[in-house]
Amino acid sequence: MSRDSKTKVLTVALVLCVICSILVSAAAVLLHSRQEANKLEEKRKNILLAAGIYDATLPVEAQFSQIKTRIVDLQSGDFTDEFDVASFDSRKAARDAATSYRIPAQRDLASIKIRSRYKDVYLLMEGDALQQLILPVHGKGLWSTMYGFIALGADLNTVSGFAFYEHGETPGLGGEIDNPAWKQQWPGKKIYDAAGKLRIEVLKGSVDPASADAIYQVDGLAGATLTARGVSHLLAYWLGEDGYGPFLDQLKQGEVTP
Ligand SMILES: Cc1cc2nc3c(=O)[nH]c(=O)nc-3n(C[C@H](O)[C@H](O)[C@H](O)COP(=O)(O)O)c2cc1C
Repeated sequence: MSRDSKTKVLTVALVLCVICSILVSAAAVLLHSRQEANKLEEKRKNILLAAGIYDATLPVEAQFSQIKTRIVDLQSGDFTDEFDVASFDSRKAARDAATSYRIPAQRDLASIKIRSRYKDVYLLMEGDALQQLILPVHGKGLWSTMYGFIALGADLNTVSGFAFYEHGETPGLGGEIDNPAWKQQWPGKKIYDAAGKLRIEVLKGSVDPASADAIYQVDGLAGATLTARGVSHLLAYWLGEDGYGPFLDQLKQGEVTP
């Protein structure tokens, strides 16, 4: 067969394609467990970061051992042992008809349409006493669904940290939700007022420190009001009666114990 014959060129191309696809498939299969482990470590790191206790010099796994993971049934507001905490994935649960809940449009403050009926929550304990409760939250910004963790102190009303770990907002505009200067405004803010009304919000503009409402408010993002509004809305949803509200109420009243 001549070196430049069509059959030879096609045979070489075909053999190369087969070899490459075997290599790619083998890499995908062999690296799958490592990718899953990395994903879990990244998630745990973000939980520790939201709680403000991440130490870059120590292994994540060792630090995470002080955190207790539980699954909450959002409707009853109680813990459930129906799922394995190690493998539970609320994004997968939201895609499964048996575990998902379609949110009525008029109540869909976070614009997510569907959510899991169950959520993984993270408890930082000192002995039997709850120090911090870390809750996963998500909702639509301008371009993307923004995923984060909000950490609450032992009173279940004071924010101890809030950070997004995944979003597709524009760097320099909505992407400023990752700016440490903006994030550091959250610790100390209160979620509910004395009457139990949900008050936390991101303003359009700056917080007036002299205002009595400043304790519930965070500065807006210049040129990114739509992302900022998305942050307020997702907090209103997840900390409200259709989100963690029933669970937080029961925890405050001691009707469920961590
Ligand atoms: C290319 C481009 C990217 C933008 N990205 C964002 C964004 O990520 N988040 C956001 O809220 N607004 C973004 N905006 C601006 C919005 O369209 C809108 O003008 C802005 O949210 C209004 O906020 P302001 O009232 O503070 O100016 C973007 C605009 C352009 C042209």
